[in-house]
Amino acid sequence: MSVPMIEVKDLTKHFGGGANIVKAVNGIDFKVRAGQAHGFLGPNGAGKTTTIKMLVGGLSITQGTATIKGYKAGSVKANSLIGYVSEQPKFFDMTLFKYLIYMGRLGHLGKAEAAKKAEELILWLKLEEAADRKVNNYSSGMKQKAALAQALIHEPEILILDEPTANLDPVGRAGMIEHILELVRDRGLTVLVSSHILGEVEKLADTVTIINKGEIILSDDVGVIKDQLAGNHFLLETSKNELILERLKRLRYVKRAWIDDENRIQVVSEKDDVLEEAVTEIVYKSKAIMMSFKKRDVSLEDIFLSSVSEKNENGKGGASHE
Ligand SMILES: Nc1ncnc2c1ncn2[C@@H]1O[C@H](COP(=O)(O)OP(=O)(O)O)[C@@H](O)[C@H]1O
Ligand SMILES: [Mg+2]
Repeated sequence: MSVPMIEVKDLTKHFGGGANIVKAVNGIDFKVRAGQAHGFLGPNGAGKTTTIKMLVGGLSITQGTATIKGYKAGSVKANSLIGYVSEQPKFFDMTLFKYLIYMGRLGHLGKAEAAKKAEELILWLKLEEAADRKVNNYSSGMKQKAALAQALIHEPEILILDEPTANLDPVGRAGMIEHILELVRDRGLTVLVSSHILGEVEKLADTVTIINKGEIILSDDVGVIKDQLAGNHFLLETSKNELILERLKRLRYVKRAWIDDENRIQVVSEKDDVLEEAVTEIVYKSKAIMMSFKKRDVSLEDIFLSSVSEKNENGKGGASHE
């Protein structure tokens, strides 16, 4: 398999020392492969920004390693492969067009090339009306777009975005997610995007790493995680929910069953193969109509809450919040 675009091994960052030591990141491991959109998720203070800063060479590493397509994080080669949008982007006192050309030149583009690329990005982000205005006077949504343009000007292979939607209104958020999606789908960029709002990356990420208190809780394919978590949790709607519920509860392998707020039966079963057959049988014998029967959809938030509680409860099992 090809070398990962981002690889982190035993990565550690401690601030200060002695009694005042802050263990921001504690020996984390994860990989992001080429072409993936990777969600880097965790609550505030989890260690996301600290990790990202080590990836882009903005912070020294206390222990462990971080590599960008095999190159040491922070090296000139590694940085040339990365486009970075920081948590609170800062701009020089320039118009967007000038700023992008300037950043392009820093990224080793020729003058004409930088101008051409800047124009392309301005059009793509629909900032043409604002291109000759100073970025510092932009709205936060426009600033975030400008930061994205700046990150892309030198045509990086990897885009690293630290909470790119945190300061945006819902329209701005959706727009930003769409732009990032386009970069992954159409331009084949590898993206690492951090967020503390889990639902937000739902549309975007195909793999995720969840970090909490400086430690990795899990790092995997979203589909795989969802399958594991959805496991044996089903949703059932029938014309005789009460009756069906009573009969389901009598089954040995049904661990829990209840009717939720939306008048659906939720069933947690030890075995999923037998349950399917049993449900069909029960519905038939009860002369009820089956409206729907499916595995419960799992959101990233479910994944997050369940993995945090598993850790805290020492393996007692996932939280299901009904
Ligand atoms: N320069 C610093 N000095 C001391 N502690 C810091 C510094 N930067 C971050 N921290 C601490 O490290 C932890 C992780 O912070 P951060 O990486 O910013 O989290 P996140 O981005 O996930 O919200 C927090 O407890 C934070 O207070
Ligand atoms: Mg942060």
